[in-house]
This record gives sequence, structure tokens and C-alpha cells, in this order.
Amino acid sequence: MNLKKLAGYEAAKLIADGDVVGLGTGSTTHYFIEKLAQRIKEEEMEMLGVPTSYQSSFLARDLGIDLTTLDEHQIDIAVDGADEVDPQMNLIKGGGAAHTMEKIVDSAAEKFIVIVDDSKLVNELGKFPVPVEVIPPAFRVVGERLDEIGGTANIRMAEKKDGPVITDNGNFVLDAEFNNIKKPEELEITLNSIPGVVENGIFTRIVDQVLVGTSEGLKIINKD
Ligand code: A5P
Repeated sequence: MNLKKLAGYEAAKLIADGDVVGLGTGSTTHYFIEKLAQRIKEEEMEMLGVPTSYQSSFLARDLGIDLTTLDEHQIDIAVDGADEVDPQMNLIKGGGAAHTMEKIVDSAAEKFIVIVDDSKLVNELGKFPVPVEVIPPAFRVVGERLDEIGGTANIRMAEKKDGPVITDNGNFVLDAEFNNIKKPEELEITLNSIPGVVENGIFTRIVDQVLVGTSEGLKIINKD
């Protein structure tokens, strides 16, 4: 069984006719968008998507999902993947460098659902490096600041392009290795207070529900 597909398909079943839906980024969200497009066609649903990246925008358009923007509509529900999920439903995101727009869309939604396979569940965040999007001229000084606060920083290099990854917003990404993150909420705020940082990949306080694909089936974790 494909566990990402299980979580993505189950999330698509939660969308109601008329919803404005935040469309996350990544391979798990790919399945969500695929199943959503199928439902829209088969059930003749009215639905608008708000993409979090070029990837989700292109996929949604290819599959015939109508798109809108945050300017025009309030988002009812956002569905997105994650790189790590801790027991308090804090996340690390940004493995695909889309975490800035993801955080904007996911935070703006009335309800935010995370979809993962069970390999993403951790007791403590930090094995996955924290992606930090930075304005290009600031990357060296931000990297030094990250090193000072204990997060060994590496600029993310592109594949099939020479040089660094350039985000959808035209910026660089520093991956900061913290290993054990004891206070995710504090670190999220600290990272965003460094001049030159656009947004970091720690997401706290915004998740309502996590759908986990496991080999025993779907597991649902709700906010307390
Ligand atoms: C995109 O930048 C990320 O936040 C993804 O949502 C996250 O990396 C999860 O991706 P997968 O679903 O591909 O594992």
C-alpha cells in the first residue's frame, strides 16, 4: 500500500462542495490534488483552490481545478504534507522549498489538515534540517547567525541547475541542522527575527488534524 496515497486520498474525501481549498506542495499533496480533481469531475463539485507553489498550481490547472488567490477568497480548509510531525502537532516543512507560501496559506485557512505517512512522525523535531528562506544578499550573515544559535547551516544547492536552489519567491534556502529542538515555538520566532530571513519551516499552533497513512490503515490525530 502506498501510505502517502492513502493519506492524500482520505483527505480529499473531507472536502465539501463549495469549499475554497489551500493546496499544499509535495508528493503526498500530489495524491490529494489528484483525488480532489477526480471528485470535482465525478460529483460535479464547485471548488476553488489556492496553490502554495508553482508545483501545486501547475498540477491543479492540468487536472482542471479552478484557482483563486488569498486576495479574493477566504480559505475554508488547507491540506498539506510535512517532513516531520511531533506529538504536539508541530511541524517541519520546506523539503520542497515551498514553506513560505505554505505557511501563509495553511495559517489563513479555517481548518488545516496535515497528510503524512508514518515515517514522518517523530518524538521531537530536528532530525530533518529546518529550511530557512533568505533574501539572497543576506545569506552569508544569516548563515553565521544560524551557526551561532546552534543550527549548522548549509545553502541548498540545486539539481539540474548550477548553483543554489531559487525559491518560487526568488530567494535562497539555508538548511539549518539543530538535531534536537526542545522549544519549537521559540525557535520559530527566533529564526524569523533574524534580518534577511523571509520565513522558516517550523510550523507551530496551526494544525487541526493529522491524517497518517500506516500499514494498518489510516490513523487520525486530532487537536486536543
Ligand atoms: C514543500 O516545501 C514541503 O513543505 C512539503 O510539503 C514536505 O516536504 C512534504 O513533502 P512530501 O509529501 O513530498 O514528503
